[in-house]
Amino acid sequence: MSKPKIILIGAGGHAHACIDVIEQDGGYQIAGLIGVPEEMNTQHLGYPVIATDGDLPQLTKDYQYAFITVGQIQTPDHRIRLFQQAIELGFQLPAIIAPSAHVSCHATIGAGAIVMHGAIVNAGARVGNNCIINTRALLEHGATVEDHCHISTGAILNGDVHIGAGSFVGSGSVIKEGITLGERCIVGMGLSVRHNQAAHARFVGNDNS
Ligand SMILES: CC(C)(COP(=O)(O)OP(=O)(O)OC[C@H]1O[C@@H](n2cnc3c(N)ncnc32)[C@H](O)[C@@H]1OP(=O)(O)O)[C@@H](O)C(=O)NCCC(=O)NCCS
Repeated sequence: MSKPKIILIGAGGHAHACIDVIEQDGGYQIAGLIGVPEEMNTQHLGYPVIATDGDLPQLTKDYQYAFITVGQIQTPDHRIRLFQQAIELGFQLPAIIAPSAHVSCHATIGAGAIVMHGAIVNAGARVGNNCIINTRALLEHGATVEDHCHISTGAILNGDVHIGAGSFVGSGSVIKEGITLGERCIVGMGLSVRHNQAAHARFVGNDNS
């Protein structure tokens, strides 16, 4: 039986990383990417940009599945807007999990979230909708990641950490067990977070509070 086709919304660097995971996952056939007008007909790892955001309503006639492949560091706004638009248009956004990742059968992964190569999502962890759990990130037991977050490459969320919606945790950063980050926080790369952070906090070190 042929695989269901999926369109990828976003044609930048993060899209390339997603393509590799989707190919390995093997559940979907990538029909093409959705980009900005200047990207039309460009090729990305062998897949063309077939349309722009404005064409999404028409694409619902041909495609049931979509996935957001725009990256996220400074703001979650682009990913949130595209995710909500895709849902409102009636696309289904599956969870994509790399075969090399470990997702506990006691963990949950939301719609449109991706768990990339070598990541570990341990027992009782919960990942919301439209999240990126990037390569080799670790979510320990009971960790919660609300919707629209990016947990970057090699970041560690220790047990029962709570990450508020729309937050970003940089590469290699470690969040102490039980810590809560409010919504839309940014944690830079390579840092240790030992205290709770308020919503919209921008944490780049000196955590003596
Ligand atoms: C936090 C971050 C988003 C801020 O980006 P920005 O707004 O462009 O700000 P800058 O990088 O210019 O940083 C401004 C200052 O904040 C401090 N700072 C920023 N990030 C820091 C970090 N991770 N550790 C320590 N200090 C940091 C520094 O004092 C820096 O000044 P400097 O560049 O003169 O040293 C960025 O530094 C960062 O960490 N990005 C994450 C990278 C990453 O993990 N990518 C993963 C993709 S999968």
